[in-house]
Amino acid sequence: MAKTKTIWICNECGSKQMHWTGSCLLCHSWNTMQEKKEEPISPSRFDSLPSSLVEPVSLQHVSTNQFERFTTGWKDIDRVLGGGAVQGSLILIGGEPGIGKSTLLLALADQITAKGKIVLYISAEESNEQIALRAKRMKVTNSNIYLYSEIQFSRILEAVQKIQPDILIIDSIQMLYKETLLSAPGSVCQIKEVAMECMQLSKKRRITTFLVGHVTKTGELAGPRVLEHIVDTVLEFEGDRQQGFRLLRSGKNRFGPTDDIAIFQMQENGLEPVDNPSSLFLEERKIPVSGSAIIPATQGSRALLVEVQALVIPSSFSTASRKSTGFMVNRLALLLAVLEKKIGYQLHTMDIFVSIAGGLKITEPALDLGVIVAMASSFLNRPISLSTAVIGEVGLGGEVRSVRKIDTRIKEAIHMGFVTCIVPKKNFKEIPPDYFKKITIHGVELVEEVVSLLLP
Ligand code: TYD
Ligand code: MG
Repeated sequence: MAKTKTIWICNECGSKQMHWTGSCLLCHSWNTMQEKKEEPISPSRFDSLPSSLVEPVSLQHVSTNQFERFTTGWKDIDRVLGGGAVQGSLILIGGEPGIGKSTLLLALADQITAKGKIVLYISAEESNEQIALRAKRMKVTNSNIYLYSEIQFSRILEAVQKIQPDILIIDSIQMLYKETLLSAPGSVCQIKEVAMECMQLSKKRRITTFLVGHVTKTGELAGPRVLEHIVDTVLEFEGDRQQGFRLLRSGKNRFGPTDDIAIFQMQENGLEPVDNPSSLFLEERKIPVSGSAIIPATQGSRALLVEVQALVIPSSFSTASRKSTGFMVNRLALLLAVLEKKIGYQLHTMDIFVSIAGGLKITEPALDLGVIVAMASSFLNRPISLSTAVIGEVGLGGEVRSVRKIDTRIKEAIHMGFVTCIVPKKNFKEIPPDYFKKITIHGVELVEEVVSLLLP
């Protein structure tokens, strides 16, 4: 018989060592090594697999019925999930504390139970009474939502056995605790183990499981990176707490694309989907001010108009500062270099701040031209017309490059009542002819052209 070995596992990063050390050899955290008995892997462990799983199967004969989709009753969330939730999938929702994860999941539970499904809501952080209070505020009353306030995983399994839910919500994974492990709730070993158990549970019983995961100060999902590898889908819930709107986007999805987003607004009594996000983001723009440009961005299948704001001011220090919110700072440095080289602005002594209004984070290159124009507008202290939208990627030579989905972008600008649209000349052929009757479209090739056109 194989002998049981003693190993040491780091609570922070989950790495294994054969000996105890004061600090982990991999992540260098102190006092995180925990002793564990490693069970020998017995060959019989694999005997229980049904023979159908062990034999290779032709791709044509693999049945996909097991992964049926169903609608959650909330079209925005269906879209983010890639066209509905998949039976037996494991979905992780990450977000900062207080952003509204529990509120979102309770509202989702309400929508799903309205479709005749049963939801088991495991609350490891709040008592049933607290959830019930929130439900009352949100006017959620469905009797098919079962609440269970528990942190021990074995008890949760019993509850699943008893209630037989279609949907299981675990709020949050960091609080759960498997008794057979020595480490504390929230430690890497616990999170990893509980997530694996949840995966098996949802696949075996075809329960769609939503796990809530906390996000650390640096914006990463707390706990091991491995959590993101285990689950099928990672949804990120983010937003600007002051302004009250929230974004749900998928960072990973084994069952669909990952670029769609859903936008909600946090109201007195719960989250409300926002049907026309462009108007929400442009609401504040009433008078023309320098340093602001409107860009039709795309997020998955939808376009939304975003406002980029730039502030260019002389620096009081020898090293000028470059700060950006919602826009990649490396990209900003590149665009600044283009602006200096091609238009000749002296920007190295200027502090530069760029921000996407409304707390949005957008990474697509189609924003480049808008960011350049906003910076030029602030530098010259001249505003751009309120009815002009700017689209285009900018190359190192100052050339305006084509972007994806030009028609969706222009359509959104027309829909929002814009009069002029600046687009890359290379995209001209893809624009439907009837758009030219509704909006003035300027095709441009170089950054210089755009600056002299918009800021004469
Ligand atoms: P919560 O869902 O508890 O956040 P999380 O689970 O991500 O930690 O809710 C966070 C905030 O939302 C809370 O500070 C109060 C606010 N809120 C509303 O504004 N309206 C509501 O109807 C609800 C339920 C919460
Ligand atoms: Mg919560």
